[in-house]
Amino acid sequence: MRLQKYIAHSGVTSRRKAEEMILQSRVKVNGFIVKKLGTKVDPEKDLIEVDNKRIELASKKLYIMLNKPEGYVTTLKDEHNKKVVLDLIDNIKERIFPIGRLDKDTTGLLIMTNDGDLTYKLTHPSHEVWKKYLALVDGIPNHKEIQKLKKGVKIDGRLTSKAKVKMIKIYNDSSVLEISIHEGRNRQVRKMCKCIGHPIRKLKRISIGELKLNDLEIGEWRHLTEKEIKYLKTL
Ligand code: URA
Repeated sequence: MRLQKYIAHSGVTSRRKAEEMILQSRVKVNGFIVKKLGTKVDPEKDLIEVDNKRIELASKKLYIMLNKPEGYVTTLKDEHNKKVVLDLIDNIKERIFPIGRLDKDTTGLLIMTNDGDLTYKLTHPSHEVWKKYLALVDGIPNHKEIQKLKKGVKIDGRLTSKAKVKMIKIYNDSSVLEISIHEGRNRQVRKMCKCIGHPIRKLKRISIGELKLNDLEIGEWRHLTEKEIKYLKTL
C-alpha cells in the first residue's frame, strides 16, 4: 500500500495532506523519515509514525493504555456532561471503549480497545487477573488492620477474596498502601479501606497483570506494544 494512502486510511488526514506531511519529513516508516511519495508499506509489518505518533489502519484492532486523570468518567458518554476518558484520546477515528472501569476520582492505568472479544474475556466475573493499586489513606493502618484487608472484609454483605497488601510509605497523618485484588466489584478498594477505618484520599491503578503504567504521564496515552497485546490475549 502506498504510504499516503495508508496515512489517509488511518483517519489522520486526507490523502493530499498526507502527501504534504511526507514532504515535510513528518512521516517515519520503521523509525526512518521517508520523504518519497508513493513509498510502499506493508500494513501488517511496517510501523508508521506521523509526528512521532504511531498510526494504524482504521479497520485494525487498537489497544491503548491511558493514564487516566481525576475527574473523568470511564463511560463513553455522560448525560450530566461530565468529562469522559474518550476526550483524552486524540487522532483516533475508531470507536474504542475502556476495558472495565475506574471511578471518576481514581487515576492510572486504563486499557481501551475496539477488540470486543478481548473486552468480553477480561471483564468476565470468572476472570482472575490481579490489579494493583496505590492508595493514599487516612491514618496509618496497624498490622491487624492490614491482615484484615488481606484476608477479606465484608463489603455490601459479602466477603472480598484474598488481597495482597503492602505498606509503602508513612506520613504524619496518612500512609500509602499497595493493594492488589483480582475482583472488580464496585468501588471495591475504597470500600475495603473504609471498612478497616482508613478511608482513601487518593487512588491510582498501577498495573493489570504484568501490564504496567510505568512513567506514562497523567492524561497521556500510548499504543500497547505487540508484546503487551499478545500478553493480554493470553490472560
Ligand atoms: N476500586 C475502587 O474503589 N475504585 C476504582 O476505581 C478501582 C478499584
